Amino acid sequence: MSERIAHPQLLSKVMSADEAVRFIHAGDNVGMSGFTGSGHPKTVPPALARRISAARETGREFRVGVWTGASTAPELDGALAEADGIELRIPYQSDPITRGRINDGRMEYLDIHLSHVAQSVWQGFFGRLDVAVIEVVGITADGELIPSTSVGNNKTWLDLADRVILEVNESQPLGLLGMHDIYYGTALPPDRRPVLINAPGDRIGQTTFRCDPEKVVAVVRTSDLDRNTAFSPLDDVSRGIAGHFVDFLQHEVRRGRLPENLLPLQSGVGNVANAVMAALGESDLHGLTAYTEVIQDGMLDLIRSGTITVASATAFSLSPDGAKTLLDEIDDLRHKIILRTQEISNHPEVIRRLGVIANNSLIEADIYGNVNSTHVMGSRIQNGIGGSGDFARNGYLATFVTPSTAKGGALSCIVPMVTHVDHTEHDTDVLITEYGVADLRGLSPRKRARRIIDNCAHPDFRPMLDDYLERATAGAWGRHTPQLLGEAFSWHERFMETGTMRPESAAAVSEAEAVVTDLLEG
Ligand code: COA
Repeated sequence: MSERIAHPQLLSKVMSADEAVRFIHAGDNVGMSGFTGSGHPKTVPPALARRISAARETGREFRVGVWTGASTAPELDGALAEADGIELRIPYQSDPITRGRINDGRMEYLDIHLSHVAQSVWQGFFGRLDVAVIEVVGITADGELIPSTSVGNNKTWLDLADRVILEVNESQPLGLLGMHDIYYGTALPPDRRPVLINAPGDRIGQTTFRCDPEKVVAVVRTSDLDRNTAFSPLDDVSRGIAGHFVDFLQHEVRRGRLPENLLPLQSGVGNVANAVMAALGESDLHGLTAYTEVIQDGMLDLIRSGTITVASATAFSLSPDGAKTLLDEIDDLRHKIILRTQEISNHPEVIRRLGVIANNSLIEADIYGNVNSTHVMGSRIQNGIGGSGDFARNGYLATFVTPSTAKGGALSCIVPMVTHVDHTEHDTDVLITEYGVADLRGLSPRKRARRIIDNCAHPDFRPMLDDYLERATAGAWGRHTPQLLGEAFSWHERFMETGTMRPESAAAVSEAEAVVTDLLEG
């Protein structure tokens, strides 16, 4: 173990996770490492969940605030939510139990642009940070910490927390040392200075975290793996979307609006974003770079094949196969990947300077290009905005991708009006579904609506959207962005009542229900 913990004082603080959680008290705010299922602590959170459950059995309430980089895994979010131990969760989650608690109104959740989290915590908006629980790959002889497979907000948690618990994970490769770029130059206004990244491969920081050894109250050993969830296999829809995205980029190159090696790419989270990256590998594009938040399997393959020469991110989010590849090829990949703190990977100033091409998925978009990335039916959170706003708002080109329908075709992802707005029409340049590309740049609202319906909507829903736009254009109170307010959400209401947005099926369902009711009532 001394290879992993070379600092004698910290070696003397090794203890079990159950002992370590004695340093976490009811009401504490706990900053944990972890970003999209990688680099989260694996043994302390379940031990904390056990402590919370035990306290509750003796009639004591025990909840904590849980702050992370982004989503974690069942043993962190899942275990703590199951124990009903989270008072307030920030800033992004994707765990089904956590999601259920939030949507039942039993857990407070604040969804924040990921680039804003560190500054909000420095400004004190969420109160004091009591404890940091951080996974590291090792501790050097002078007490510096070797970061793991995600960086997220770890620097901020280590700087601000009163007490620090370290999880040293032996399953993470020591070869990660040298991949990270931890920047110590951030400040709050008016003391901010330019963040001098002029290309995705630029380094402006150091490879390790600083941490005052006096603050470290416990060191816990683990060898559990990252979440490593497999991605859905590519299907015709995701292939279609990805193909249109690549065609669009090639078209822009031919028109001279993008250089041949494009501009740095950002790729969002989820299956569709992963498929888009896979499609880039089949194109003749090469010499690309990435300034992104997360590296999923699709992007890892592009880096390995040389299609992408250098990628900057804050975390990996890999399948088990992808994680094995990273382990096997770490000595090569370390020179092509830079992991930064999320305030720098998602930094508006840098994203704007580099001219990033943003590509993110969504829940629904409306005919004018407003995008809902987070809320199903306007009220139920799915995951969170993540970094999509950081990149879409500040990038050179904001593209959004989505299947044209969801829930087996019952829902149209193109609707008259989105039920929640994460990205406004002003930040949506291009919308892409399996049916095509709607390039919205330079178009006024009614022209945008025409292009989105014609190019992106599913053919089954196009007549309904045509009809809506026609009647809205003729009868809306204002004709600039015509909407029929009494009707705009009727598609969603129909879905909530009948399980589909399709009126004819809805009518059939109500008819069938009426027949059943008649039969039952005799
Ligand atoms: N209405 C209701 N549900 C919808 C929907 C719609 N219009 N569109 C998608 N969904 C549901 C899907 O049915 C699926 O639900 P399930 O898990 O119960 O099957 C879920 O949303 C995920 O959809 P999927 O098609 O598998 O897409 P994905 O894995 O590509 O994820 C997002 C799509 C939008 C949820 C995901 O990209 C996300 O959370 N984005 C926001 C954050 C972000 O963009 N971060 C990137 C910054 S780097």
